Amino acid sequence: MTRIGMGLVGAGFVGPHHIDAVRRLGFVDVVAVAGSSEVSGREKAESLGVRKGYGSYQELLDDPDVQVVHNATPNHLHYEVTSAAIARGKHIVSDKPLAMTSAQAKRLVNEAQRAGVVAAVTFNYRGNPLVQQARVAVERGDIGTPHFLYGHYLQDWLLKETDYSWRLDPEKGGASSALGDIGSHWCDLAQHITGLKITHVLGDLTTVVKQRQKPSGSREAFQAGNGEGEPVDITVEDLASVLVRFENGVRGCFSVGQVCGGHKNDLVLEVCGAKASLRWRQEDQNELWIGHRDRANEVLQKDPSLLDERVRGYAHLPGGHQESWADAFFNVMREIYGCIAAGPPYPALPPMVATFEDGFRAHRIVDAILESAADGGAWTRV
Ligand SMILES: NC(=O)c1ccc[n+]([C@@H]2O[C@H](COP(=O)([O-])OP(=O)(O)OC[C@H]3O[C@@H](n4cnc5c(N)ncnc54)[C@H](O)[C@@H]3O)[C@@H](O)[C@H]2O)c1
Repeated sequence: MTRIGMGLVGAGFVGPHHIDAVRRLGFVDVVAVAGSSEVSGREKAESLGVRKGYGSYQELLDDPDVQVVHNATPNHLHYEVTSAAIARGKHIVSDKPLAMTSAQAKRLVNEAQRAGVVAAVTFNYRGNPLVQQARVAVERGDIGTPHFLYGHYLQDWLLKETDYSWRLDPEKGGASSALGDIGSHWCDLAQHITGLKITHVLGDLTTVVKQRQKPSGSREAFQAGNGEGEPVDITVEDLASVLVRFENGVRGCFSVGQVCGGHKNDLVLEVCGAKASLRWRQEDQNELWIGHRDRANEVLQKDPSLLDERVRGYAHLPGGHQESWADAFFNVMREIYGCIAAGPPYPALPPMVATFEDGFRAHRIVDAILESAADGGAWTRV
């Protein structure tokens, strides 16, 4: 098999997981890492065992050995890095959100289409085998017609005023914080599992921690603060609840927040249908709850032999051997690189992978929620 060269821009919290996932594929060479400075590029490359470390993404794009660029920079750099990579004819794996605004996201959709490159966004929870099992179960009618979706995505790493992330600075994270950062995952998963688009939203947003200590240096995601820094006012939401309408009159609601003690990465999605319900919880990701009215509820444990044959290949270990976030991330990368390896004309990404169109749609949903909240909680069309 022809080997494929990958380059990573932004090796903070999530970037190294992109490297782990592609290394596992066996036919991908991690060629280079680009950091925010020469020193950080070199240090990151060394610590990740990557041959070349660059001080700017432009140098990485100039490297002819890099065919696929992974963009794991903070949000404000997404558009420029992704757009430049596409202009150089590189395939692109952008971490979410696709850009800072819907307008930028739409431009990227068009740029990628014109260039004919493979372009994907990492809405990685789709890669979990039991998420795929849920999707297949809905599609084959196991739960009947869905009528209600609910759940939440709660974390606690921004609970204290000493906690800080660039996500809370609209110049770096965008107009939305918690909704754009993690609410977008919930919406993507809800639409992916049911095949139903979100059409209308009604949002109630708030900023629980109104002032925080901003550190003088950079701090990567999930790192607790130590009280060092200067006080800054926070204007973006760290907590939100949203009523949702899907196509076909299907109703839903979800809450997101990064200020909820004890919730580490607590993404929960339940779909209630005419016959039964399904619930998947990221923190117990090897289980799928199936709720019945006239018989005992069930818990399907992840076990390849019990999964639909279309899903089985996403489980890499026998039953009882827990799989994790990183395995789901790998599944997404495997699908993306499968398309790249097929060569031009590149096949369309399989449904499990979020496209740039999906990334654009995620932006439009967040825009509509912000608009709804600004209107005092009015129903707003996406
Ligand atoms: N898919 C997921 O589940 C998931 C999880 C976490 C983060 N993310 C997304 O990934 C992106 C990165 O998030 P993170 O949590 O890893 O952030 P982070 O702050 O931990 O890491 C960002 C890295 O980018 C580097 N960087 C900054 N400017 C740069 C530049 N000009 N060139 C190269 N590198 C630069 C920083 O030094 C840092 O190492 C965000 O857009 C976030 O939304 C996605």
